[in-house]
Amino acid sequence: MTRRRRIYEGKAKVLFEGPEPGTLVQYFKDDASAFNNKKKGVITGKGVLNNRISEYLMSRLGEIGVPTHFVRRLNMREQLVREVEIIPISLVVRNVAAGSLSRRFGIPEGTPLPRSIIEYYYKSDDLGDPMVSEEHITAFGWAAPQDLDDMVALSLRINDYLSGLFLGTGLKLVDFKLEFGRLWENEEMRIVLADEISPDNCRLWDIKTNEKLDKDRFREDLGKVEEAYQEVARRLGILPEGGPNDLMAPKTMQ
Ligand code: TMP
Repeated sequence: MTRRRRIYEGKAKVLFEGPEPGTLVQYFKDDASAFNNKKKGVITGKGVLNNRISEYLMSRLGEIGVPTHFVRRLNMREQLVREVEIIPISLVVRNVAAGSLSRRFGIPEGTPLPRSIIEYYYKSDDLGDPMVSEEHITAFGWAAPQDLDDMVALSLRINDYLSGLFLGTGLKLVDFKLEFGRLWENEEMRIVLADEISPDNCRLWDIKTNEKLDKDRFREDLGKVEEAYQEVARRLGILPEGGPNDLMAPKTMQ
């Protein structure tokens, strides 16, 4: 097998050079990390499920006109994406208090927020992804005011659409993290959604029971982590054909 050039290795994914210029292959690992890499583990089958879940959600978003880096799924663990220049700011959209917002302001988890709140974090492992303001982002040149406006407008559309989509499957979209990149076409630059959307970077709670069906099960040692990812895929109607057994399929590449 020919070895492809590894462009970047993150905590949960690897990016390889794609088959054509301007493309990358995004490989989904089973590795999980939390608390800025202080907690590490493996969630068996997570990569296969996140590849499917992200494919599904990015495709649906594409259909309503949200530009994304996603091109197509290649196999169990890989998808073809457009190569973009990643903007070093993560956007977190919150609908319900949880996680760091609950800790920071002493608001009990599960409290509905008066309106959706967007937060910005500067992507830096060394600094532990500090929260930043619009002022920091534009003053330090991480993104231009227009880029930021586009990212916020897209994030709000994504939130509205995904909240409804998940509600239809009996899940509450509590909060989620998005990443964006710049894509140049014919001298023109567009901001597009990048990275992934999966239970790794969303909080999803069962509407009736408030059971957590996302990476908080790993972060908080709640057990049944694999089952939670499978349940999200099942509710979206996209469990791999062979069911959970398929998730153990051999890794397709090195
Ligand atoms: P937080 O409450 O820990 O700040 O997380 C908010 C949302 O962002 C939650 O859905 C998890 C997601 N997230 C990531 O995807 N990556 C991260 O590094 C962090 C801190 C949060």
